[in-house]
Amino acid sequence: MSSHPRIKAAIIGFGRMGEMYLHQMLRSTQWEVRAICDTDPDALAVAANIAPSDTVLTAHEDDIFNDPQICMVVLSALADSRKRHLFKAVEHHKHVVTEKPLGSNIEEEYEVMEKIRQNNLMVTVNLPLRTAWYHKVIREFISSGEIGDLAIVRICHMTPGLAPGEGHWAEGPLFHDCGLHYVDIAHWYAQSDFKTWNAQAIRMWNYHEPWWLQVHGTFENGIVFDITQGHVYGQLAKDLTHNGYVDIIGTKGIARMTHDFVTATVELHGITKTQVIRKPFGDKNLDVLLDLFARSIIQGNLDPSLPKVKDAVIASEYAWKFLEDAARHDMPARGDNKTLEEIRERRNNKRIGYGLLRKKKKYND
Ligand SMILES: NC(=O)c1ccc[n+]([C@@H]2O[C@H](COP(=O)([O-])OP(=O)(O)OC[C@H]3O[C@@H](n4cnc5c(N)ncnc54)[C@H](O)[C@@H]3O)[C@@H](O)[C@H]2O)c1
Repeated sequence: MSSHPRIKAAIIGFGRMGEMYLHQMLRSTQWEVRAICDTDPDALAVAANIAPSDTVLTAHEDDIFNDPQICMVVLSALADSRKRHLFKAVEHHKHVVTEKPLGSNIEEEYEVMEKIRQNNLMVTVNLPLRTAWYHKVIREFISSGEIGDLAIVRICHMTPGLAPGEGHWAEGPLFHDCGLHYVDIAHWYAQSDFKTWNAQAIRMWNYHEPWWLQVHGTFENGIVFDITQGHVYGQLAKDLTHNGYVDIIGTKGIARMTHDFVTATVELHGITKTQVIRKPFGDKNLDVLLDLFARSIIQGNLDPSLPKVKDAVIASEYAWKFLEDAARHDMPARGDNKTLEEIRERRNNKRIGYGLLRKKKKYND
């Protein structure tokens, strides 16, 4: 690998994720980041402090799309520009690593999927649970027969993270913005299509969108699931904590995972063995994603383990469906805007909380 010249790349959207991509690409010998685009001059000022001095910093995306030397773009702006960026990437023959979702709404995502299908460019989506070591270990354990037949997939992700109105306004309610990852990984475990579902949500702090949602249902192959997701987990507690797990139940054994965002612990209880594995959590796993994508470009074939556009579109579509189902049921409100203001103040000004976005001068709503 190291004998191959660095792949010339660019990043569009230099917020929290864009910065993570840059750090990872600077650590690797596979990439040369030639240009970074962001419409916010403050974001470009941050980039200037991190990127090598000869990196092009621009507010104009076409400086990147029109540069024939750039063969790959990272799309890490928000969902409202994703379709335009993906269409331009196809038209200008750039390979793409893109953030989710792939458009502002599901119709745009289907248009993107069709556009990409008609071309032979390589596109992968950052669905970091699919590149996480712990989910791969658990799925291998399931495949080995140790838990019997997979029957129940239980997933929970609750943190004192992104609060309503802090950012990501283009990505939809939280269960779409963040929840789609858990929809995706449930689908990945079951290896079957969603069949039935029933969702319950709550509008915390009287915000107009739900910020916690629980859904349970069935897959076509008879596996059942429940997903609980919310960034409503004690934002004003003296000491912050979270609750994240997968609990995989078979007809004979179980496999489960918990993490503290530093270390992930996998516990395997199979019919012939019991095993506990503790390893670094890996967070967004951009090292794995970018390494596999660089190898894919060099070899001319998308690595089959990389997340596909279709995976992201299905996850997005069902996250929307589960939100729609929750909206058909009673959706109570608890708490008030005063508490939400306290949460925003603590997160944005005191910088206390999980998943903090770069400090904003004003809230978006
Ligand atoms: N895969 C994951 O686990 C994961 C995690 C967090 C965020 N995300 C996704 O990543 C994307 C970015 O999230 P973030 O947390 O970095 O948000 P952010 O708000 O920190 O950054 C977004 C950046 O994009 C810039 N931008 C907006 N429109 C632009 C345009 N048209 N051209 C160029 N730049 C533009 C903004 O100025 C900002 O700097 C979102 O779509 C989000 O859904 C994915």
